[in-house]
Amino acid sequence: MDQEISNCDRLWTNARLVTLDPATGAGYAMLEHYALGVSDGLIAVIAPMEGLDLSGFDKEVTDCRGALITPGFIDCHTHLVYGGNRAGDFVKRLQGMSYEQISRTGGGIRSTMQATRASSEEELFLKARPRLLSLIAEGCTMVEIKSGYGLNVYDELKMLRVVQRLREEHPVRISATLLAAHAVPPEYLGKSDAYVDLICTELIPRVSIQKLADAVDVFCEKIAFTAMQAERLFLAARDYGLGLKIHAEQLSDTGAAALAAAYGAWSADHLEQLEEEGVRALQQAGTVATLLPGAYYFLKETRMPPVALFREYRVPMALSTDLNPGSSPFASIRLIMNLACLLWGLTPEEALAGVTRNAARALGWGDRLGTLTVGKEADFLVWDLEDPAQLPSEVGLSAPLQRVLKGVVTRA
Ligand code: NIG
Ligand code: FE
Repeated sequence: MDQEISNCDRLWTNARLVTLDPATGAGYAMLEHYALGVSDGLIAVIAPMEGLDLSGFDKEVTDCRGALITPGFIDCHTHLVYGGNRAGDFVKRLQGMSYEQISRTGGGIRSTMQATRASSEEELFLKARPRLLSLIAEGCTMVEIKSGYGLNVYDELKMLRVVQRLREEHPVRISATLLAAHAVPPEYLGKSDAYVDLICTELIPRVSIQKLADAVDVFCEKIAFTAMQAERLFLAARDYGLGLKIHAEQLSDTGAAALAAAYGAWSADHLEQLEEEGVRALQQAGTVATLLPGAYYFLKETRMPPVALFREYRVPMALSTDLNPGSSPFASIRLIMNLACLLWGLTPEEALAGVTRNAARALGWGDRLGTLTVGKEADFLVWDLEDPAQLPSEVGLSAPLQRVLKGVVTRA
């Protein structure tokens, strides 16, 4: 038996590995008729079946019989902890009001804030749980969850504690993001700078000390915060060693993506209104462009993000649900891949890379997750599918045969 194999805790044999590892090849970077072995939660072996000596290997072996193995899906942008619902906004939009108009007249994020503030931690947890479970059932092994509907110190911390409990009670990696700068709360209307001060001097330090967040995000937009305010938040977040993310160029071009690039942010998200200069800035900084087709579809936007420019400049594109009650109430990463292909022309390979390799980078985990590569964390999915393009083309028709997290087969 080979040395590496004998060290493995478990093996998957006769698999087709959709590695997504650029070192292995382009596109899916597929390896046919391969074995994958894990050891101590990491991928330890990727080897062709041909010539593999398994004699004497007495630990568990799963014969995949040609099944596909992909990296686990990573949903890198969600707002899945919230109270209430926004069906009323949906009806208003069907009657012709825009997302911006609804937001300016007291609906939108502020109405979810009211419902979230009025909910107990237990209530928020119980509402969030099935949303997270839907993502897990589809194959997500990592989910990012933002705060942003508390909009004061007490309720933002409350939301992040719910995120922490979701992490403790579910077999999934969770990355937590402080998005206190999601909207200006009613108490600070006309005093948004003072609210930004509060976030910088009180929330960010507390969140960092209590280890309640991995990153800080800001909604940089005419109806939310300016690029200058976003910069102050970035400076404070950086001082505390937190990752940086931004909601950028969703409804208008405010220079938010260029700011994100200047600060080495993990990702700039949305980007429908981004111009070429901003694309160049992302490329130079290695910042990921996280695209959210669910929000584009649900808000009936017409300007698509500059996908051709992202390709030309080789800016990595991640895809995410943006799961939230107002602009993307969809708990399906498969639907998101599908929308990205049909609405924006992403290839199936790009869609899959968007929810694996590039999504990992958007959370600061690019060197540890997102591809099937020896040495990376062993988070992967086994699929009874013939063609990896079934992943973006079909929604709700298949669940993973196995979901492996840290080298262990898990069930939600
Ligand atoms: O990513 N753009 C800002 N935040 C969310 C919307 C949140 C909401 O409407 O409740 C988004 O689309
Ligand atoms: Fe969002």
